[in-house]
Amino acid sequence: MIDHLYIHIPFCPNICPYCAFYKESAGRERVEKFLEALLVEVKSHAHQLRPETIFLGGGTPSALSPTQLNFLFEGLHRLLDLSALREWTIEMNPATVAADKAKLLWDAGVNRISMGVQSWDDDVLKKLGRTHTAQKAEESFVILREAGFKNISIDLIFGVPDQSLTSWQETLERSLRLDPEHLSAYGLTYEEDTEFFRLLGRGAMKQNEELEAAQFEMTMDLLSRHGYQQYEVSNYAKKNHDSLHNTAYWLGKDYLGLGPSAFSTVARKRWRNIRETGIYTSSTMNGKTARDFEENLSSEIQASERAAFGLRTRHGLSLEQGKKWQQELENMETHGLLHSAHDRWLLTRRGKLLADTVGEIFV
Ligand SMILES: C[S@@+](CC[C@H](N)C(=O)[O-])C[C@H]1O[C@@H](n2cnc3c(N)ncnc32)[C@H](O)[C@@H]1O
Ligand code: SF4
Repeated sequence: MIDHLYIHIPFCPNICPYCAFYKESAGRERVEKFLEALLVEVKSHAHQLRPETIFLGGGTPSALSPTQLNFLFEGLHRLLDLSALREWTIEMNPATVAADKAKLLWDAGVNRISMGVQSWDDDVLKKLGRTHTAQKAEESFVILREAGFKNISIDLIFGVPDQSLTSWQETLERSLRLDPEHLSAYGLTYEEDTEFFRLLGRGAMKQNEELEAAQFEMTMDLLSRHGYQQYEVSNYAKKNHDSLHNTAYWLGKDYLGLGPSAFSTVARKRWRNIRETGIYTSSTMNGKTARDFEENLSSEIQASERAAFGLRTRHGLSLEQGKKWQQELENMETHGLLHSAHDRWLLTRRGKLLADTVGEIFV
């Protein structure tokens, strides 16, 4: 049985210039056909699934209309054994939050929200091409609380050009005033095939690594002072509110990903679904495979991935697990990037700043 299910909903009302997740804007008919196909795919895997965690991601799953969401949840409840479910997350863009939708999600059994606020500074939001204002994001947060959600996560982005340290501090402080259970703070990455990537290439956007490092350090300090544990390099949670779903990925557990572009890793096999929504929909409806790529994972690859992801978390890497890279790990320790405690290797504060570099030893 597979314990972790990811479902990719590939639609967004507006495409952000920094985002490389697979998404498109789409008309009602296309969305409805897609949802039918998705439920066909769910049905074909239902016998393997008794999920402890479900993550509806995207794209923007909250961009679906109440009718479309009802159709999706009715299908998921009908097809899946949800008796072991502990965490059901949906990603929401603040622009798409409304009281009727929030109630519908709560009634359907969703118990965790991950909301893409990104910043509480309207200038930074504009720069990021977001369609919501800070005020709308705050209203959305309140709507979700009023609907009953006791586990809300806020996504934030730092390292945005022209985002000062003060703007970032205000973003952190305003987030803290709302008292979310979880915060994700990502440094802006310039992903290939995005408008930001092209602008960076042309010199029309510039990175400021020093400022970004200062913003990251400020995040660690401020959030830990307010009782959030940095349980992964970019993720902070109050006690007992680590994301169970994401932790399962990071610790190398099996998971099934459904919907276009979704990856799955099950029993030493990894595969990816077809990216393009129209082709995904027609293949699935015609009883053909939804996969377009598949590989076997050797035990070496699996060990490297587990080490690389695990080390970014508060669980770190057991000394036993690390034996294969003993020399490199000791070298990182000498440089102050790692320390060992309770028989585990853990990133130091400096190591968290340079986590990507540390991770390279496992490649
Ligand atoms: C798949 S998005 C879904 C959230 C939702 N669609 C929204 O935008 O509100 C998940 C999160 O990834 C982060 N993200 C996406 N692209 C990023 C990038 N290029 N650099 C840093 N963070 C990014 C954002 O914080 C975003 O909220
Ligand atoms: S950041 Fe969210 S809303 Fe923007 S394009 Fe990506 S998935 Fe869509």
